[in-house]
Amino acid sequence: MKVFISGADGALGREMQVLLRNQGINFLGADVNQFDITDFSKTKDALLNYRPDVILHFAAISDVDRCEEEVELAFRTNALSSLGLAIIAKKLKAKLLYISTNFVFDGAEEKIYIEYSKANPINEYGRTKLLGEYYIKDIYDRFFIVRTSWLFGRHSKTFISKFLVNKNKPGSIDVICDQFGSFTYIPDLARMILLLIKSENYGIFHIVNQGIGSWLDFALKAKELARFKTEIRPIKTEELNLSAARPRFAPLGSNNFEYLFNKRMRSWEDALTEFIKVIKQGA
Ligand SMILES: NC(=O)c1ccc[n+]([C@@H]2O[C@H](COP(=O)([O-])OP(=O)(O)OC[C@H]3O[C@@H](n4cnc5c(N)ncnc54)[C@H](OP(=O)(O)O)[C@@H]3O)[C@@H](O)[C@H]2O)c1
Repeated sequence: MKVFISGADGALGREMQVLLRNQGINFLGADVNQFDITDFSKTKDALLNYRPDVILHFAAISDVDRCEEEVELAFRTNALSSLGLAIIAKKLKAKLLYISTNFVFDGAEEKIYIEYSKANPINEYGRTKLLGEYYIKDIYDRFFIVRTSWLFGRHSKTFISKFLVNKNKPGSIDVICDQFGSFTYIPDLARMILLLIKSENYGIFHIVNQGIGSWLDFALKAKELARFKTEIRPIKTEELNLSAARPRFAPLGSNNFEYLFNKRMRSWEDALTEFIKVIKQGA
């Protein structure tokens, strides 16, 4: 199996590279420094030359507020690049795995979203990621669309991940207490992606750790486990004046994945316990 990874230097891309290397699987990882995934002809030339069996499309503008401010860039990177990769995957008869998000849902009701819940994004990030899904589904049938949520791990750009790996912790931090969702430990997600691409079970999958919480719940649990001194202060989303609206309640249910693979992800608390251990070992 030969794998191509877009967005290979991102948080998920880096973890995936480690896993593929450990498994002895050949891969070519490219990020914006190697070539820009929104340049269709360069991407096509590179992939027709490398001829992967699997394309992992991780590249994205993952900063939700930046997407709101740079809509055209978000559209090209999150949506149009998926059109290009779907066409290339079809030509190569390669499997295509695209990472999408729980932000395709509006989060207006207190319910868990399953794979066929109605999408209704409320910000540009969600809208452009959903368009990426549509492009892929319209063009090609050998796809895995993996919706995930609130990634955490060593290289994650999320606020709490960066805080946890930082050795010089501030005296206090403000943490959002009024958004609820699912958390996903990046190494767990990478392992499930490997399982998917080894299979022929195509379709839409929600892959997240079990359990629902807010970032405040997450930070307090991390404090209990890692015993750091930083004071954690709850803050409401509106106090932050962010550019993009956030779904208020958008946890994901993994029906398709659990049914087809007979597997359940561990709880986010168990995954967080491992992450804290990993950070301590690295310290
Ligand atoms: N992080 C989350 O909580 C979360 C939740 C749900 C879904 N997802 C999705 O999961 C995937 C991986 O997320 P992540 O946290 O690993 O994101 P990430 O760390 O931002 O990684 C994405 C990578 O893509 C690169 N990239 C951006 N534009 C590109 C272009 N035109 N050509 C090639 N590469 C480009 C980025 O480079 P720069 O850093 O230079 O921009 C970055 O290295 C993304 O598709 C994201 O939408 C993430």
